[in-house]
Amino acid sequence: MKKIAIYPGSFDPLTNGHLDIIKRASRLFDKVIVAILVNADKSPLFNSQQRLEMLKNSVDQDLPNVQVDTFGGLLVDYALRHNAQVIIRGIRAVSDYEYELQMALMNRRMEPQIETVFMMPAEAYSYLSSRLVREIFQLGGSVSGLVPPHVEEELGKRLVKKL
Ligand code: PNS
Repeated sequence: MKKIAIYPGSFDPLTNGHLDIIKRASRLFDKVIVAILVNADKSPLFNSQQRLEMLKNSVDQDLPNVQVDTFGGLLVDYALRHNAQVIIRGIRAVSDYEYELQMALMNRRMEPQIETVFMMPAEAYSYLSSRLVREIFQLGGSVSGLVPPHVEEELGKRLVKKL
């Protein structure tokens, strides 16, 4: 049986930390579906279509067993529809654990056959988050090296539009 994993998140925007987890997961599972949550935040920096394109841009050529999609509704329902046995979540520091444990156990309560697997990104990304990238970018700081170059380019375009 093929091992299929879902890697869900907001990805607003995609960071090098997310990419690191995607690459690691692609080596462990037959198929990884990166699932972008639509409409969680009423005013995201990038809409779901833009986030989808940014992710596809990063994984399409290099990682043939990785697909990118958007989803709404319950994550466990989405996972069942795609025959996934595993939900992947990245854990950076102990501070992430409490919220992630809560979600993992709630998802397990709803669908006991789906396992959540926690993965750690490279240490270099252990302090990196989309929220901080958004904040630094919005305050005019450099996010070089924190996000893929094409995401940095997209961020630059937004800045030009805002000025
Ligand atoms: O990148 P994020 O914002 O930390 O990802 C959170 C996400 C998308 C994994 C979570 O909000 C989620 O699964 N939302 C879908 C709705 C759902 O299933 N909620 C119940 C979770 S126990």
